[in-house]
Amino acid sequence: MTTSDPTQTGEPTRRDFIHIFSTAATAVGAAAVAWPLVHQMNPDASVLALSTKEVDLSAVEVGQAIKIFWQGKPVFIRRRTPAEIEDAETTPLSALVDDDARNANLSGAEASDNARTTSADGEAKPEWLVLVGVCTHLGCIPLGTTSGENKGEYGGWFCPCHGSHYDTAGRIRKGPAPENLPIPPFQFISDTVVRIG
Ligand code: FES
Repeated sequence: MTTSDPTQTGEPTRRDFIHIFSTAATAVGAAAVAWPLVHQMNPDASVLALSTKEVDLSAVEVGQAIKIFWQGKPVFIRRRTPAEIEDAETTPLSALVDDDARNANLSGAEASDNARTTSADGEAKPEWLVLVGVCTHLGCIPLGTTSGENKGEYGGWFCPCHGSHYDTAGRIRKGPAPENLPIPPFQFISDTVVRIG
Protein backbone atom coordinates (compact mmCIF):
# COMPACT_ATOMS: atom_id res chain seq x y z
CA MET A 1 0.00 0.00 0.00
CA THR A 2 1.31 3.47 -0.93
CA THR A 3 1.08 6.64 1.14
CA SER A 4 1.16 10.32 0.21
CA ASP A 5 2.46 11.40 3.64
CA PRO A 6 5.85 13.10 2.90
CA THR A 7 7.19 12.13 6.29
CA GLN A 8 6.77 8.54 5.20
CA THR A 9 8.17 8.95 1.66
CA GLY A 10 11.32 10.90 2.60
CA GLU A 11 10.29 13.89 0.44
CA PRO A 12 10.97 17.32 1.99
CA THR A 13 8.07 18.77 3.89
CA ARG A 14 7.13 22.44 3.75
CA ARG A 15 8.92 22.92 7.05
CA ASP A 16 12.07 21.28 5.60
CA PHE A 17 11.81 23.57 2.58
CA ILE A 18 11.64 26.70 4.77
CA HIS A 19 14.66 25.49 6.74
CA ILE A 20 16.71 24.76 3.57
CA PHE A 21 15.76 28.10 2.07
CA SER A 22 16.67 30.08 5.17
CA THR A 23 20.04 28.25 5.49
CA ALA A 24 20.89 29.05 1.86
CA ALA A 25 19.83 32.67 2.33
CA THR A 26 22.09 32.95 5.40
CA ALA A 27 25.07 31.55 3.44
CA VAL A 28 24.53 34.07 0.62
CA GLY A 29 24.20 36.85 3.19
CA ALA A 30 27.47 35.82 4.87
CA ALA A 31 29.26 35.75 1.51
CA ALA A 32 27.88 39.18 0.65
CA VAL A 33 29.23 40.56 3.96
CA ALA A 34 32.58 38.74 3.57
CA TRP A 35 33.28 40.09 0.06
CA PRO A 36 33.60 43.77 1.07
CA LEU A 37 35.79 42.74 4.03
CA VAL A 38 38.10 40.64 1.81
CA HIS A 39 38.09 43.36 -0.81
CA GLN A 40 39.12 45.95 1.81
CA MET A 41 42.04 43.72 2.85
CA ASN A 42 43.54 43.69 -0.69
CA PRO A 43 46.28 46.32 -1.00
CA ASP A 44 45.30 49.09 -3.38
CA ALA A 45 47.58 50.52 -6.06
CA SER A 46 49.01 53.25 -3.81
CA VAL A 47 50.14 50.66 -1.21
CA LEU A 48 51.72 48.49 -3.92
CA ALA A 49 53.49 51.55 -5.32
CA LEU A 50 55.08 52.16 -1.92
CA SER A 51 56.29 48.56 -1.68
CA THR A 52 58.01 48.65 -5.08
CA LYS A 53 60.14 51.24 -6.80
CA GLU A 54 61.07 51.55 -10.45
CA VAL A 55 64.43 53.15 -11.17
CA ASP A 56 65.62 54.38 -14.57
CA LEU A 57 69.33 53.58 -14.82
CA SER A 58 69.94 55.01 -18.30
CA ALA A 59 72.05 57.91 -16.91
CA VAL A 60 74.32 55.68 -14.79
CA GLU A 61 77.64 55.17 -16.50
CA VAL A 62 80.06 52.28 -16.09
CA GLY A 63 81.92 52.74 -12.80
CA GLN A 64 79.17 54.87 -11.26
CA ALA A 65 76.71 53.99 -8.53
CA ILE A 66 73.55 55.59 -7.25
CA LYS A 67 71.69 55.49 -3.97
CA ILE A 68 67.91 55.41 -3.87
CA PHE A 69 65.51 54.79 -1.01
CA TRP A 70 63.11 51.85 -0.95
CA GLN A 71 60.84 51.15 2.01
CA GLY A 72 62.87 53.66 4.03
CA LYS A 73 66.17 51.86 3.37
CA PRO A 74 69.06 52.99 1.18
CA VAL A 75 69.62 50.79 -1.86
CA PHE A 76 72.89 51.00 -3.80
CA ILE A 77 72.88 50.25 -7.51
CA ARG A 78 76.33 50.06 -9.06
CA ARG A 79 77.15 49.67 -12.73
CA ARG A 80 80.34 47.71 -12.32
CA THR A 81 83.44 47.98 -14.47
CA PRO A 82 84.81 44.85 -16.19
CA ALA A 83 87.65 44.83 -13.63
CA GLU A 84 85.21 44.95 -10.71
CA ILE A 85 83.21 42.10 -12.21
CA GLU A 86 86.31 40.01 -12.82
CA ASP A 87 87.54 40.67 -9.30
CA ALA A 88 84.22 39.49 -7.84
CA GLU A 89 83.93 36.48 -10.14
CA THR A 90 87.44 35.18 -9.48
CA THR A 91 87.26 35.46 -5.68
CA PRO A 92 87.18 31.90 -4.33
CA LEU A 93 84.27 31.14 -2.01
CA SER A 94 86.83 29.95 0.54
CA ALA A 95 88.03 33.56 0.86
CA LEU A 96 84.61 34.79 1.99
CA VAL A 97 83.56 35.50 5.56
CA ASP A 98 79.90 34.76 4.75
CA ASP A 99 79.27 32.13 2.07
CA ASP A 100 75.51 32.79 1.83
CA ALA A 101 74.37 34.80 -1.18
CA ARG A 102 71.90 36.77 1.03
CA ASN A 103 69.84 37.30 -2.09
CA ALA A 104 66.08 37.68 -1.57
CA ASN A 105 65.60 36.39 -5.12
CA LEU A 106 67.24 33.04 -4.31
CA SER A 107 67.25 30.78 -1.32
CA GLY A 108 70.16 28.84 0.04
CA ALA A 109 72.58 29.85 -2.73
CA GLU A 110 76.30 30.24 -2.16
CA ALA A 111 77.73 33.74 -2.42
CA SER A 112 79.16 33.47 -5.93
CA ASP A 113 79.13 36.66 -7.95
CA ASN A 114 76.50 35.12 -10.21
CA ALA A 115 74.21 34.43 -7.25
CA ARG A 116 74.74 37.96 -5.95
CA THR A 117 73.53 39.50 -9.24
CA THR A 118 70.59 37.18 -9.95
CA SER A 119 67.20 38.89 -10.13
CA ALA A 120 63.70 37.59 -9.39
CA ASP A 121 63.34 36.14 -12.90
CA GLY A 122 66.49 34.05 -12.39
CA GLU A 123 68.63 36.16 -14.72
CA ALA A 124 72.00 37.60 -13.72
CA LYS A 125 73.26 40.84 -15.21
CA PRO A 126 76.87 41.02 -13.94
CA GLU A 127 77.15 44.70 -14.83
CA TRP A 128 74.47 45.66 -12.29
CA LEU A 129 74.79 45.09 -8.57
CA VAL A 130 71.76 45.97 -6.40
CA LEU A 131 72.26 46.04 -2.62
CA VAL A 132 70.53 47.19 0.54
CA GLY A 133 73.08 49.73 1.78
CA VAL A 134 72.93 48.97 5.49
CA CYS A 135 76.03 47.58 7.19
CA THR A 136 75.32 44.16 8.68
CA HIS A 137 77.29 45.01 11.83
CA LEU A 138 75.26 47.72 13.52
CA GLY A 139 73.40 49.34 10.66
CA CYS A 140 75.54 52.28 9.48
CA ILE A 141 75.40 53.25 5.81
CA PRO A 142 78.68 52.24 4.13
CA LEU A 143 80.68 54.55 1.89
CA GLY A 144 81.64 53.75 -1.69
CA THR A 145 78.63 54.74 -3.74
CA THR A 146 79.61 58.32 -4.53
CA SER A 147 82.63 59.09 -6.65
CA GLY A 148 85.72 59.75 -4.51
CA GLU A 149 84.38 57.99 -1.41
CA ASN A 150 86.47 55.41 0.39
CA LYS A 151 85.61 52.05 -1.17
CA GLY A 152 87.65 50.05 1.33
CA GLU A 153 90.41 47.53 0.83
CA TYR A 154 88.35 45.32 -1.49
CA GLY A 155 87.10 48.05 -3.84
CA GLY A 156 83.42 47.79 -2.94
CA TRP A 157 82.14 49.62 0.12
CA PHE A 158 83.64 50.67 3.42
CA CYS A 159 81.78 51.16 6.68
CA PRO A 160 83.67 53.74 8.74
CA CYS A 161 81.71 53.12 11.94
CA HIS A 162 83.87 50.14 12.95
CA GLY A 163 85.87 49.39 9.81
CA SER A 164 84.03 46.80 7.73
CA HIS A 165 85.23 46.26 4.16
CA TYR A 166 82.93 44.89 1.44
CA ASP A 167 84.09 43.71 -1.98
CA THR A 168 82.77 44.55 -5.45
CA ALA A 169 79.92 42.06 -4.98
CA GLY A 170 79.00 43.63 -1.61
CA ARG A 171 80.36 40.66 0.32
CA ILE A 172 81.96 41.23 3.72
CA ARG A 173 85.69 40.59 3.54
CA LYS A 174 87.16 42.27 6.61
CA GLY A 175 85.96 43.87 9.84
CA PRO A 176 83.24 43.10 12.38
CA ALA A 177 80.23 42.87 10.02
CA PRO A 178 79.09 39.23 10.02
CA GLU A 179 77.11 39.08 6.77
CA ASN A 180 77.18 40.18 3.16
CA LEU A 181 75.13 43.25 2.27
CA PRO A 182 71.65 41.90 1.45
CA ILE A 183 70.26 41.83 -2.08
CA PRO A 184 66.63 43.06 -2.19
CA PRO A 185 63.94 41.60 -4.45
CA PHE A 186 64.50 43.16 -7.88
CA GLN A 187 63.86 42.58 -11.54
CA PHE A 188 64.72 44.43 -14.74
CA ILE A 189 61.54 45.39 -16.57
CA SER A 190 63.51 46.81 -19.52
CA ASP A 191 67.19 47.12 -20.43
CA THR A 192 67.53 50.22 -18.26
CA VAL A 193 64.66 50.14 -15.75
CA VAL A 194 64.84 48.02 -12.63
CA ARG A 195 61.98 47.42 -10.24
CA ILE A 196 62.95 47.04 -6.58
CA GLY A 197 60.56 45.15 -4.33
S1 FES B 1 78.15 49.43 11.73
FE1 FES B 1 79.42 49.03 10.04
S2 FES B 1 81.23 48.32 10.92
FE2 FES B 1 79.95 48.67 12.61
